Amino acid sequence: MSAKRIVFTGGSGKAGQHAVSYLLDKGHEVLNLDLSPSLNPAVHTLKVDLTQSGQVFNGISSHFRLTQPFREPLDQPPDAVIHFAAIARNMIVSDDETFRVNTLAAYNVIEAACKLGVKKIVIASSVTVYGVTFAEGDVDYPSFPVDESVDTNPMDTYALSKLCCETVARGFARKYGVDIYVLRIGAVIAPDEYDEAFAGYLNNPEDWKGHGWSYTDARDLGQMCNLCVAKDGLGFQIFNATNDEVTHHLSTKELLEKLCKSTPITREMGTREAPLTNRKIKELLGFQEEHRWQRYVSSP
Ligand SMILES: NC(=O)c1ccc[n+]([C@@H]2O[C@H](COP(=O)([O-])OP(=O)(O)OC[C@H]3O[C@@H](n4cnc5c(N)ncnc54)[C@H](O)[C@@H]3O)[C@@H](O)[C@H]2O)c1
Repeated sequence: MSAKRIVFTGGSGKAGQHAVSYLLDKGHEVLNLDLSPSLNPAVHTLKVDLTQSGQVFNGISSHFRLTQPFREPLDQPPDAVIHFAAIARNMIVSDDETFRVNTLAAYNVIEAACKLGVKKIVIASSVTVYGVTFAEGDVDYPSFPVDESVDTNPMDTYALSKLCCETVARGFARKYGVDIYVLRIGAVIAPDEYDEAFAGYLNNPEDWKGHGWSYTDARDLGQMCNLCVAKDGLGFQIFNATNDEVTHHLSTKELLEKLCKSTPITREMGTREAPLTNRKIKELLGFQEEHRWQRYVSSP
C-alpha cells in the first residue's frame, strides 16, 4: 500500500498512541486531533474539541505539520480519518456527558469527513455493545461465538453511545457511498499490562465474562487500523477487533462449558478461538495476529 495521509482522533490516548505508532511505522503521515498532547514527537497534535463541529471541519482540512513556510497542497482531503477519541468507559464523567461527548464527537467527525470528501472512515466502537460488560447484574451473551451478527442490546450509557455512533456511521456510509468500517474493540491490553491483566484472566476467569474471555493487543489494533485503510470498497462494515485466542489455558469449549453452560453455541468453534470471535476481520481484511498473549504470559 502506498503511504496515506491519515487524520487520527484520540491519538494521545491509551489505544490511539499504539495505533498511531503502527501507522507511522508503515510510512503513513498522521495528524492527531485530541484535547491532550501526544507523547510521540513524530506526530503533530492539533488541540481540537471534537464536540465543536467548526473545529472538526478545520482539523480535518488542516495542514499535517508546521513548517516555515507551509508546503502542503491545500486542496487534498485526507485519505482516511480514524476516529478513536471518546470518553472510553462509564463512570469517568457523568452519564449524560459520556453520551453527549461520544455521540456528538462521532457525528461531527463522520459528517465533516464525508462533506470534505474523505472516502475512508474508521470508527472505534466497543464489544460492550453486546450488552454484557456494563449490564445491571449478570446477564448472558445471546450465543457463542459472539460475532458481528449477534444482537446488540446494551443497557449502559457508554455502550448505548457507541451503538448510536455505529448507526450514524451506517447512515453516512449509505448517504455518501463511502467506506466506513467500525471496529468493535475488546479490552485493550498495552504491552506493559500483560502480567496484571492475565493474572486476572487466568486465576479468576469467572470475573471476565464482560470481556468475553477475549482481548485486543494495542499493537495488533494498529495493524487492524492499517488494514482498514488498505482495503477499499466494502461500504459499511462492522468488525470485532479482538485477538485470536481465548484468554485462558482451557480450550474454548471447556471454558464455556464450565462458565456459561446454558448459552447456545451456534457453530463449531476453533479449539482456542476467542469467544468474541475475530473471524470476520481475518477473512475480509487479512488480519494476522502478531501478539498472542502466550508470548508475554508464561505462568499458569
Ligand atoms: N481501552 C479499552 O479497553 C477500549 C475498549 C473498547 C473500545 N475502546 C474505544 O477505543 C477508543 C480509544 O480508547 P482509549 O482507551 O485509547 O481511550 P483514552 O481515554 O485513553 O483516550 C481517549 C482520547 O480521546 C481524547 N478526547 C476525549 N474527548 C475529546 C474531545 N471532546 N475532543 C478531542 N479529544 C477528546 C482524550 O483526550 C484522549 O486522548 C475509544 O473510542 C474507546 O471507547 C477502548
